[in-house]
Amino acid sequence: MILDVRTHCVRLSLIIRLAEITLILLLVLALLAWRDENQRKLLFGWEITEFDADTDVEASAVDDEPPDLNAPDDSCNALRGAEDVVVTVKTGASEASHKIPIQMSTNLRCAPNVFIFSDMEQDIGDYHLYDALDTISRATKEGNEDFDLYRHQQQLKAAGQDVTALHDVKDAAWSLDKYKNTHIVEKSFALEPNKNWYLHIDADTYIVWSSLLPWLEELDASNHLYAGSITCFGTGTAAHGGSGILLSGATMHLFAFEHNDTAASWDPKVHDNCCGDSILGQALNAYGINVTNAWPIFDGFTPATVPFGADHWCQPLVTLHHMSPFEMEEMHSFEERRLNGNNPLLYSELYKDLVAEMIPDSRKGWDSMPIGETISDIGSAKACEKACRNNPQCFQTSYDGDNCILGTDSFRLGENRTTDGKRWQSSWNKTRISEWIAAQYPCGEAKFGFRYDRACTG
Ligand SMILES: *[C@@H]1O[C@H](CO)[C@@H](O)[C@H](O)[C@H]1NC(C)=O
Ligand SMILES: *[C@@H]1O[C@H](CO)[C@@H](O)[C@H](O)[C@H]1NC(C)=O
Ligand SMILES: *[C@@H]1O[C@H](CO)[C@@H](O)[C@H](O)[C@H]1NC(C)=O
Ligand SMILES: *[C@@H]1O[C@H](CO)[C@@H](O)[C@H](O)[C@H]1NC(C)=O
Repeated sequence: MILDVRTHCVRLSLIIRLAEITLILLLVLALLAWRDENQRKLLFGWEITEFDADTDVEASAVDDEPPDLNAPDDSCNALRGAEDVVVTVKTGASEASHKIPIQMSTNLRCAPNVFIFSDMEQDIGDYHLYDALDTISRATKEGNEDFDLYRHQQQLKAAGQDVTALHDVKDAAWSLDKYKNTHIVEKSFALEPNKNWYLHIDADTYIVWSSLLPWLEELDASNHLYAGSITCFGTGTAAHGGSGILLSGATMHLFAFEHNDTAASWDPKVHDNCCGDSILGQALNAYGINVTNAWPIFDGFTPATVPFGADHWCQPLVTLHHMSPFEMEEMHSFEERRLNGNNPLLYSELYKDLVAEMIPDSRKGWDSMPIGETISDIGSAKACEKACRNNPQCFQTSYDGDNCILGTDSFRLGENRTTDGKRWQSSWNKTRISEWIAAQYPCGEAKFGFRYDRACTG
């Protein structure tokens, strides 16, 4: 009996000791967990906040989530208002794989509503490409050579073959491309009908969001707006597709909902038309909506080919076009380097902080694409440069072996010309360009607005 009591006592003290140890262990574990929590906060660049019993449960629940790599990161926070914008990208199966990933990881990286439309449904990495042409009627497709490439791509896809291996399909891809615009408007409205703005672009278009969003704030999405850089088709006008077509929510609704057969009713007329952006313009005109000229806010050039001059030096710029994957990356890192990255980008800033340092004194195998007077009968590039020196308005020259062109209205970098058999050579007078820049008034705040009208004379 005594023995039993003793064993019992020993057992009891053992249990108490065990409980003590367990308690201490739990305390140590809790402490470790708390430290870990705070270290993790540091790891992700967050500030350690005071331990607060009230918010702890909520905070640790959030912290336990693994980081979502697809979530927009902190640098995307500046894009306030972007959630109101749908961007559609028009591409083709033969170009998509080398254009879409760069575009999506540069200027569209932070865009929350992007739909990509192609002439074949496919996935490229994480990106889904819709077939813009799948609802076009048999009557339009059958016996129509514009759809030969479409059918060929379908066959390759069905056989599990690589569509990107298709070469020399540029013309065929172009013929197919013009059927897409009207369907993209309808399909994007069906996918996302409740947004204020729809910006329709190509896979080589670059959007400067810090300019786009403050501009959209000044516009009223309940008006029937159809805006872009005006391009002429005979006496007709349309917004140029490559530099971006901006439609307000009201215009989208009219086009894709109030008249929900618009695209189908235009399909039979596409074959005899040159271009999809023109057809979209004609369809909108038929509903009483005319294009508003957004040039130079929407621009059809790259940083190297846009002419810098008096008429838009202080204007903000929203889009660039014909951007190669390399130029997209270059432009994107330029945007990341900007000190006032949330302010609209003006042409003057683009020149001074990106383009200026690329301009040499002279370069062979290069066309600086001057705008101005052409002088024939000039024997050499040296003589062409001399003609420029003697003309106080001249910023740059381009000599192709026969003709000398002086750039007097504007200046730009231009393009490589080595494949046409001519002996191209270009020169710039950087002193004059700097003097011209110094003589401009400071630009001040960005002013948007539509101030250039354009009539097409046919
Ligand atoms: C178009 O609208 C009409 C009338 O609201 C509706 O009956 C029809 O189903 C719609 N068509 C499509 C393709 O949505
Ligand atoms: C649109 O343009 C056409 C042709 O220039 C013109 O007749 C028409 O009045 C314009 N419509 C509006 C709403 O401005
Ligand atoms: C550039 O322009 C300046 C100012 O007009 C002139 O003095 C200079 O000679 C020019 N330079 C060249 C290389 O032509
Ligand atoms: C122009 O392009 C050719 C061919 O791609 C290249 O070899 C040459 O270096 C380029 N010239 C310049 C000045 O960039």
